[in-house]
Amino acid sequence: MTMFNRRTLFASTVAAVGAATEALTARSAQAALPKDVEPRGSTGRLERLPRLDLESVHDFITGFRKFANGDMSRSANARMTAIIKAEGLDPDADLPIQKILELTGKDPVIANSARTWLSAQQINWRTLHNEFHANSDLYMAEMEAADKAGPGTLELNPDLKPPAYTTHEIHIQPGGYVGDPFAGHIYLYGTNNFYTGRNNQDELHIEYASAVPVPKTGKVTRVLEQGTSCGQLAVALKQRFPNAEVWGIDVGGPMVRFAHMRAADIGVEVHFAQRLAEDSKFPDNHFDIVTNNIMFHEVSQDGARAILKESMRVLRPGGVYFPMDFYTGGPPPKAAYGKFRSWWDSRWNGEPWRLDYAALDFAGAMRDAGFDVNENGPPARPGTKRNILGTKPA
Ligand SMILES: C[S@@+](CC[C@H](N)C(=O)[O-])C[C@H]1O[C@@H](n2cnc3c(N)ncnc32)[C@H](O)[C@@H]1O
Repeated sequence: MTMFNRRTLFASTVAAVGAATEALTARSAQAALPKDVEPRGSTGRLERLPRLDLESVHDFITGFRKFANGDMSRSANARMTAIIKAEGLDPDADLPIQKILELTGKDPVIANSARTWLSAQQINWRTLHNEFHANSDLYMAEMEAADKAGPGTLELNPDLKPPAYTTHEIHIQPGGYVGDPFAGHIYLYGTNNFYTGRNNQDELHIEYASAVPVPKTGKVTRVLEQGTSCGQLAVALKQRFPNAEVWGIDVGGPMVRFAHMRAADIGVEVHFAQRLAEDSKFPDNHFDIVTNNIMFHEVSQDGARAILKESMRVLRPGGVYFPMDFYTGGPPPKAAYGKFRSWWDSRWNGEPWRLDYAALDFAGAMRDAGFDVNENGPPARPGTKRNILGTKPA
């Protein structure tokens, strides 16, 4: 067993994370975390950011996001609609993105809306990245101490080779999910801004967990979440199915490491492992439920097909597969503004796979993997009427 080498970890490369860590599986009793770094305490399950000025910046970003996604976005939408109509075109027709950009890309209202949103995103990541790296010894020591704490377990696999499609700096998070030792810390607070404060206590993940359908037999003894990130859905699934063994896997070692520390701190027993959704190492017919949340729009089409095949393999006959993402509850946008936002998110917010994902016949890919597919399964999100649901034929 080799010791962690913190200095190497900060090299911010997958290889460095791999070289510095080792596969470990902790199986300790339900002990409190040996070290809990929360200098300004916590509000419920959210540990407060460690400095008032940082928290203030993030309060501002959250408020700005609300404005940007609300009034400012509505103004940009109205402006785009007016420009396209003035050209004698239908803004609800499926216009090519090149045409939309040519007509509206230089409009100051639209450009300002997009640019300021991006600036807020950049400030979001940068301030969090700086904080955790400036205090790296403290936060690394906290994680090291938590690795073997319970409840729940952690398995890191530093030799795992992440598929190339997972190594991008998705939504321009510095280092992405696999290349920064504090990716989990940064992602959690960053996405709290993304959720505009509505998920500080995992409220949305609790709703998503409650939407997941159970197999017809009602038997739920093992549940898997793929692409678990900070483990918020996995924790909510364990709380919903307290007698089941719940696993959360992610390609990112720093993600599952943080997820484990957080779940142990909350006191919920989840098993986290750094594993690939397309090569999960679980036995055949193992899980009653396999689910994921906002993972597939960050996955290449080939990756998605491989993940669906593996999901089919690890589900037991009669088990349910419930992916929750953009377009699992309805088609991709056709109207000009929706198309523009998707394109812009892909181009400027580091979402290289979301247009490929939108172009994938997801139901067809699920059928190809062997699922019985119900495109009118129960909704996963408030405001949607349905979600795609796969069942492994009995
Ligand atoms: C947007 S995040 C998901 C967030 C999380 N499920 C939630 O509900 O908040 C996508 C996650 O999927 C993980 N991921 C992407 N491709 C993966 C793969 N092939 N295997 C395992 N994890 C993957 C990424 O590392 C990332 O943590």
